[in-house]
Amino acid sequence: MPIEKQHVAAHFVNRFGQSPRWIVRAPGRVNLIGEHTDYNDGFVLPLSIDRAVWIALRPRGDRRVVVHSIDYDQTAEFSLDALSREKAGWIEYLKGTAWSLQEAGHRLTGWEGVLMGDVPLGAGLSSSAALEMATARALAAASNLAWEPAAMAKLGQRAENQWVGVNCGIMDQLISAAGRADHALLIDCRTLECQAVPFPPGVAVAVLDTSTRRGLLDSAYNQRRAQCEAAARFFQVAALRDVTMEQFQQSAGQSERGKMPRLLLDAVAQRRARHVISENDRTLRAAVAMRRGDPSELGRLMHQSHESLRDDYEVSSEALNAMVEIARAHRACHGARMTGAGFGGCAVALIHAEAAEDFAARTAAAYQQRTGHAAAVYVCRATNGAEVV
Ligand code: GLA
Repeated sequence: MPIEKQHVAAHFVNRFGQSPRWIVRAPGRVNLIGEHTDYNDGFVLPLSIDRAVWIALRPRGDRRVVVHSIDYDQTAEFSLDALSREKAGWIEYLKGTAWSLQEAGHRLTGWEGVLMGDVPLGAGLSSSAALEMATARALAAASNLAWEPAAMAKLGQRAENQWVGVNCGIMDQLISAAGRADHALLIDCRTLECQAVPFPPGVAVAVLDTSTRRGLLDSAYNQRRAQCEAAARFFQVAALRDVTMEQFQQSAGQSERGKMPRLLLDAVAQRRARHVISENDRTLRAAVAMRRGDPSELGRLMHQSHESLRDDYEVSSEALNAMVEIARAHRACHGARMTGAGFGGCAVALIHAEAAEDFAARTAAAYQQRTGHAAAVYVCRATNGAEVV
């Protein structure tokens, strides 16, 4: 059962002997399609889910932030006047977010409260972005700042890039900040424009956790980014977003009637670029299919996305491929693919809502039988992004 407001309130009362002034939540996310496109200024289609980080808080008269984590049963604190990086740990995400807001010129007020969450950690459901955006939402409430989702998402991303040291794109923070109940968001990662796209009636989203975790993810992720940047330089554009499939086929060395290409982009960079360029196109078509109420077409695009991530971008894994194949074999499944950065973590499936239970049970059992790993399946709801509840 997802965490609810009253659970968080009860923990606060238990600790502070009175009700909190605010309760905020910021959700994790799952991406339907548009993978490894955000840092290429491209398109993504994620939804914010009913798994979130929650903070109940009250303001303090000084400039300290004092937080008790229910999940770790640990209290940590820092001063807004003396922020410094220490060793890794959950409090660094809060500090980094406070640092980023202050760097942007916001005048912050201290607060104290309790923190808890139910976004599985390290599963590729953006638990860290949820923590950053919950912190930003709490700081905004305590400091009386207007909530501007795109601006706050950029500050959360800056915290992740510069304080935590992970070179992610904008997708996770933006969907956590700006998500909308019962909708996915088509996000243009260049302009940060978000368009809410409703789910066709009768479909549900299932998150399929392979229970494998990504090793060496950061270095592989950074390497992919560098390959994309090299490909953009080859095409003489700001980002791969600016290259059409026709341009790619003409100039990247796709042998045109057997001729030698004019210029050479190495074979690996070609495959990376082909993934990004085709994925942007699939993502735009997926949003159209969703609006038209056509889950079968959306499912087909998800299959193509998975194949492209597996073969061209090479960020899938055996466990993810097994999960996706098993999910697809169920009659209730419109489509399935790996989701998030890859190398482990979760797949996502679009399914007939009325068969959700059967789908979850059979998929988990077949996956366990085939791979020996346990599987967790969450049928989730699209919820609002970061909010005061
Ligand atoms: C991670 C990053 C995102 C995005 C995805 C891949 O989740 O944090 O910015 O690049 O991988 O689509």
